[in-house]
Amino acid sequence: MSLNRKNMYGNRACCFYFAVVVLLASCSGNYEVYKDSGANLEARVEDLLARMTLEEKVWQLNQLILGDNLNVNNIGEEIMDIPAEIGSLISFTTDPEMRNAMQKRAVEETRLGIPILFGMDVIHGFRTIFPIPLAQACSFNPELTMQASQVAAKEAKLSGIDWSFSPMVDVARDPRWGRVAEGYGEDPYLASVFGSNVIKGYQGKALNDTFSIAACLKHYVAYGASEGGRDYHATEVSRNTLWNVYLRPFHAGIQAGSATVMSAFNDISGVPASANHYTLTEILKQDWKHEGFVVSDWNSIEQLVFQGAAANRKHAAELALNAGVDMDMKDLCYKDYLPELLEDRKISEERLDDAVRRVLRLKFTLGLFEHPYTPIVSDSLRYLTDEYRNLAREVATESMVLLKNDNDILPLKFKKIALVGPMADDSVNIMGSWSCHGKATDVVTIKAGLEASGLYEIEYSKGCEIDAVLPNGLADARRIAGQNDVIVLCLGEYAWWSGENGSKSTISLPKIQKELLKELAQTGKPIVLLLSSGRPLELYDVEPYANSILQIWQPGTMAGYAVCDILSGNISPSGKLAMTFPYNTGQIPVYYNARRQARIPYQSQGQGRYKDIQNEPMYPFGYGLSYTDFKYGNIILSDSIAEIGDRLKISVNIRNMGNMDAEETCLWYISDPVSYITRPVKELKYFEKRMIGSGEEETFTFELDTYRDLGYYADDGNYFVEPGQYYIMAGTDSIKLILK
Ligand code: BGC
Repeated sequence: MSLNRKNMYGNRACCFYFAVVVLLASCSGNYEVYKDSGANLEARVEDLLARMTLEEKVWQLNQLILGDNLNVNNIGEEIMDIPAEIGSLISFTTDPEMRNAMQKRAVEETRLGIPILFGMDVIHGFRTIFPIPLAQACSFNPELTMQASQVAAKEAKLSGIDWSFSPMVDVARDPRWGRVAEGYGEDPYLASVFGSNVIKGYQGKALNDTFSIAACLKHYVAYGASEGGRDYHATEVSRNTLWNVYLRPFHAGIQAGSATVMSAFNDISGVPASANHYTLTEILKQDWKHEGFVVSDWNSIEQLVFQGAAANRKHAAELALNAGVDMDMKDLCYKDYLPELLEDRKISEERLDDAVRRVLRLKFTLGLFEHPYTPIVSDSLRYLTDEYRNLAREVATESMVLLKNDNDILPLKFKKIALVGPMADDSVNIMGSWSCHGKATDVVTIKAGLEASGLYEIEYSKGCEIDAVLPNGLADARRIAGQNDVIVLCLGEYAWWSGENGSKSTISLPKIQKELLKELAQTGKPIVLLLSSGRPLELYDVEPYANSILQIWQPGTMAGYAVCDILSGNISPSGKLAMTFPYNTGQIPVYYNARRQARIPYQSQGQGRYKDIQNEPMYPFGYGLSYTDFKYGNIILSDSIAEIGDRLKISVNIRNMGNMDAEETCLWYISDPVSYITRPVKELKYFEKRMIGSGEEETFTFELDTYRDLGYYADDGNYFVEPGQYYIMAGTDSIKLILK
């Protein structure tokens, strides 16, 4: 695939055509095409653009905030006097009246009446909080994520939000980076599927549908490669990795129709993402033909100065606009300098108009000109309906991953539970970072969920704080542990230890929590360990003390009911890891789809191995236990020889050997052992999750498209498919395919 410049000229021809239409229309009287909902979209855009002054155009390219800023990391001067001509506002209010009042000024008191676009970080729910995205990826159930996004869109839309700054599809391989919580794990295909489903959930069939909101793919691009897991840091990314890892989910998101894209903070091997013409214009707009707009991340234009790319704010505005950033989030660099830059001929009128056109296009497509206001609906009708809560419970249950279950300690056969730990009755951290307008009072804690089931007698002791000693905490916990049949120990992290600006130098649990675990282990009572975190954790020194480990992540509003569903055996755990759990922090980065190493034959003799620890991670990508055993049969391939472009059917039978119905996800990988650009050991290409009845067998089928699934990108972005041998894998079997 080569970069296609024809499209650029194609767009120009199109604009010329509509300019003629608009000219003819305006000659025939005072007909305002842009106000005519029946007129062609591009004609409306051109008509409005032609009427705008430079100042009005520039305001459309700026975003400010409305209400008290909920994002503690977003530091900046508060602008109280918001001009009604502003292009967009990040709205932190749930009060539609506030939006409507602001919108009224824009629609009724400005010369052209251009409505404002209201955005917000709706990351895993608006008021009904679903599990963090990393957890959702572990469900391997993208259909549920699509439904959760529909719910989030409804709650947001009825609160005055037109646009969500999600999905985040930054592939991430370093769990020290707190933002792993916000994405869909370490695999580009998984991130592509989940990201696309979020977009479909938000945007519905049409952007102007009653409950549709616009999506924003972020953070474009390679932000997940932040060095050492430090946030806002520079990234060192080869073109090979850029194309084959980081760009793939963004490309999928554009194909799924994402209305907008957010440019990232990171410097990409010398060119910051928000000043990167190659990624923003050549790839995104010209090659992928994205017609929506690019918004900068918070402060990412001004930060070009800190990053050493721009001499001052004016220079930063020049670099960002010329690279392809259309809207300036919060910095006002565009407002302050675009007119001057135009006069200095540092930016062109054509590029400025292109940016404005993109913003207007979305406002028309969303139907904002026809329906600028939000209806007033009571909280009980717009939030947390039974349907939303049931869905949140289902997503949470499916996203939990059973990491260990010695002697089938789960599901629980005991009645008397000692419930211990700082997360057991937590209603804040369990929602995770970016919990939007979620409220602690809505949350069903683990304790509340287990108690409400009526299945257990529960004695509770906190034991310790998340990162601090609680007076008499250990002794009290030990006391109640001795009096009960089983210990359910709930450990984990603060919500703010992950998410933005949530980096950690170690992914180990705090010392006090490990002391609590060891103290309880001395009682000899079985320990079921529940872990709530926004990242994979270091468990080598924790695992030996627990009989069973369930990674519950940050499950959101319905945490307690979901935990109870799994512990009681009402539902068998079906989550699998979307991100590898390293053996220890020093092993990072460790991920399943690494390229091969040089001394494979000598590995058993200790070559290429750590001297102090195992090379293998604690729990790899795709790992997750169930309450039943699944037996995979041999893979059957419809044809063992194929040509490029052929489609093949590959199937495998999976039998549920246990006595409980349970869901299983079949992961299909390919491997290309010899290639002119060396490739990862294996690459996920498809997955499917299905319920299999106890004692029953299901056939799982993967329709492999030899062009789509076997190809790779060269450094220049050219996609190629090489003839030769490939292997296809599912379960423990693999089968050879010859591509002619
Ligand atoms: C974050 C973005 C977010 C934006 C607006 C930034 O600091 O990096 O992910 O969308 O703030 O809140």
